[in-house]
Amino acid sequence: MKYESVQGIHLPKIGFGTWNIGGGASANSKKDPASLAALRSALEIGYTHIDTAEMYAAGHAEELVGSVVKDMRLPRESLFITSKVLPSHLAYHDVLKACEASLRRLKMDYLDLYLIHWPHKDMTLSETFRALNKLVRDGKVRHLGVSNFDLPLLKQSQEYSERPIVTNQVPFSLSNRTYLQNGILKYCQRNQILLTAYSPLEEGRLANTRTVKDIARTHRATIHQIALAWIVSHPLVVTIPMSANPIHQKENFDAAVIELTDEEFRRLHVE
Ligand SMILES: NC(=O)c1ccc[n+]([C@@H]2O[C@H](COP(=O)([O-])OP(=O)(O)OC[C@H]3O[C@@H](n4cnc5c(N)ncnc54)[C@H](OP(=O)(O)O)[C@@H]3O)[C@@H](O)[C@H]2O)c1
Repeated sequence: MKYESVQGIHLPKIGFGTWNIGGGASANSKKDPASLAALRSALEIGYTHIDTAEMYAAGHAEELVGSVVKDMRLPRESLFITSKVLPSHLAYHDVLKACEASLRRLKMDYLDLYLIHWPHKDMTLSETFRALNKLVRDGKVRHLGVSNFDLPLLKQSQEYSERPIVTNQVPFSLSNRTYLQNGILKYCQRNQILLTAYSPLEEGRLANTRTVKDIARTHRATIHQIALAWIVSHPLVVTIPMSANPIHQKENFDAAVIELTDEEFRRLHVE
């Protein structure tokens, strides 16, 4: 695994996403055996950054993460747990309550990183950050970040946060380069903010283009590994692919160490 360092944090280039673990928009306990097995194999492979949210399976994804971590008796400090507060919970007391509920479901006493999942048109960002700053001061949260934020909102967050903003979690993949094109990646790189790439495999619909196939063949890798390697070749970019399949999980984990040549990187860039 390769790591990215910002603000004293060392984060693996490739972590593990949990959307669809334990259900979708609502909990689906019929999926529990498969979800628990997926989490267990991810942790056995060596993933240490787990990305979850109160939204995922309506909190059930957090419950399952908490159960597996407890069952495997993993030391809390060996893991980096990210969770997110819903846009409907951005009022001061709602943020505090949402975080307490996430911690209860995770059976943990702190989060490594807490993100605003996405902005709400009626939010008062200063009030939201007043609560987030309190969570940091109270030791419930180690670091703060945002998700799906545009540049003006990201800059406001930097002003309101008492701790440096650690990340903006946004969609970023071979076919979704919005945040490369809109200048946010460059802004993050200049300001020591990680860009966390979500849906890096286009939710399983990664295009099998000729360039990606050729480069995959050269590296004896899969196209999914090349897609991830391209993402994490960008400085200050980490990613969090999700897979319920242990073979895919291992492939994704190993993709962090694939070294693309400058020429391959450029070919993927222009594609
Ligand atoms: N902040 C936000 O608003 C936001 C939004 C979306 C997602 N996220 C986070 O980002 C994480 C990742 O995004 P995502 O789950 O949307 O999509 P993704 O990681 O791009 O794609 C997941 C899909 O790709 C398949 N897959 C994974 N590895 C594969 C491989 N090596 N070969 C072939 N297929 C593979 C998986 O199927 P198998 O299970 O069969 O492998 C799954 O269907 C989420 O889980 C969540 O934690 C955040």
